[in-house]
Amino acid sequence: MEFALEISYLVASITFILGLKMLSSPESARKGNLIAAAGMLIAIITTIAFHKDGEGHAIGNLIWIIAAMAVGTIIGWIMAVKVKMTAMPQMVSFFNGMGGACAALIALVEYNTHPVHEMGFLIVVCLSLIIGSVSFSGSIIAYGKLEGKIKDLYGNFMPIINGIIFLSVMGLMIYGLINPSMFDSGLLWIILAASLLYGVMFVMPIGGADMPVVISLLNSFTGVAAAFGGFMYDNAVMLTGGILVGSAGTILTILMCNAMNRSLANVIIGSFGGASGAKAEGGDKVVKEISLSDAAILCAYANKVSIVPGYGLAVAQAQHVCNDFTKLLEDKGVDVSYAIHPVAGRMPGHMNVLLAEADVSYDKLLELEDANEGMTSTDVTIVVGANDVVNPAAEDDPSSSIYGMPIIQVHKSKNIIIMKRSMGKGYAGIENNLFFADKTRMLFGDAKASLSALVGELRSL
Ligand code: TAP
Repeated sequence: MEFALEISYLVASITFILGLKMLSSPESARKGNLIAAAGMLIAIITTIAFHKDGEGHAIGNLIWIIAAMAVGTIIGWIMAVKVKMTAMPQMVSFFNGMGGACAALIALVEYNTHPVHEMGFLIVVCLSLIIGSVSFSGSIIAYGKLEGKIKDLYGNFMPIINGIIFLSVMGLMIYGLINPSMFDSGLLWIILAASLLYGVMFVMPIGGADMPVVISLLNSFTGVAAAFGGFMYDNAVMLTGGILVGSAGTILTILMCNAMNRSLANVIIGSFGGASGAKAEGGDKVVKEISLSDAAILCAYANKVSIVPGYGLAVAQAQHVCNDFTKLLEDKGVDVSYAIHPVAGRMPGHMNVLLAEADVSYDKLLELEDANEGMTSTDVTIVVGANDVVNPAAEDDPSSSIYGMPIIQVHKSKNIIIMKRSMGKGYAGIENNLFFADKTRMLFGDAKASLSALVGELRSL
């Protein structure tokens, strides 16, 4: 039985690695997710069936375990089926928080049920408790912010307060490790409370636009906390799973920071995404609009068209009609591609997921560098619900909060059509001078309605 359990853990670990690998391409991501989930299911079932404690007892409380799994499965299933694409980051954050809470609870339960408290065990309990609770409370605050229910709390004093809380948590842990009997006198609960507070205070000052970075960072915390759980239970699959989540989360965090040209410290300390930053030189300048028929003619007679999708495409759910529009242009001999910015939308890979849903072929999706290389030879660039990711202030205005972020260099193409509903700002809360440029024409309206109308115009040409 022990052997069967070890083999099942090995199989599960392999499925996690394979699944993660397959998640790196939209073509295989769905299958990768299912393979890793199947591995997790195998690990859960074999643990329940074969695990024995030191005295050879099988797992008890089966009714409770199965009932809890059924409740969790039903809630998770309903949430995942119902969630809108635009609310996906919130859900990821919420689920991640639950993972952190599990790790913290495991630490508390194991401390109370373990007969001997050696130093190594105490260190693992403390770290699992601290990291798990920071991840839980931080993720819940991130969830509240993304839902628009919690506002940023920012001030120069925040890094100082956070520094004090962090050092206090570390100090309490070290004090407990030197005087282990204090853990029984309530110290563990004090560490729990201080860690929860740190999670809240850590996320409070971070601006809305940086929330995906924070969620990814908290995700890596949860992975590390789960890995400590693996140490506590001497459970190989929990350890492997935790390490994979921890490292994948860390790599994703670094990649997102690079995509925004910001350091992690800048993300954590700065309140990015508020009203601060560059102001457009709008003043007496006016924007020029384009009619649907002119837009259709401009695109139909172009050689090369680039579509830059952004958050508005997701809000309007215009991906399918966008694909219809692309196909019609291609039928007319136009070379159409999509320029994908790594942080367009509200979650990593948001645009890839949306466009994959509409069966846009992957070879049409160009990454930032490739898209920018071809911009000067592009006749028409159509910006569909994107704003920050095409804002030239990132290149030419050092006072802008997005200065230094790589952008899709739409301003280098020959003609620009911007589809959005109004002159509203993007996530970073700053205005965009691209809208006032000579070669820019605005096509105001909901992206889905505008693209549907354009499809109609193209058909009648
Ligand atoms: P944004 O800069 O947020 O701009 C989106 C634009 O879409 C808005 O200006 C809005 O203008 C327009 N819009 C909204 N609903 C629309 C609709 N139904 N039809 C047409 N247009 C609509 O988006 P972006 O360019 O994709 O940039 C992403 C921003 O979010 C960056 O600042 C990024 O750092 C941040 N962020 C990224 C992520 C990740 S990891 N992808 C996660 C969170 C935040 P109107 O209101 O005028 O229509």
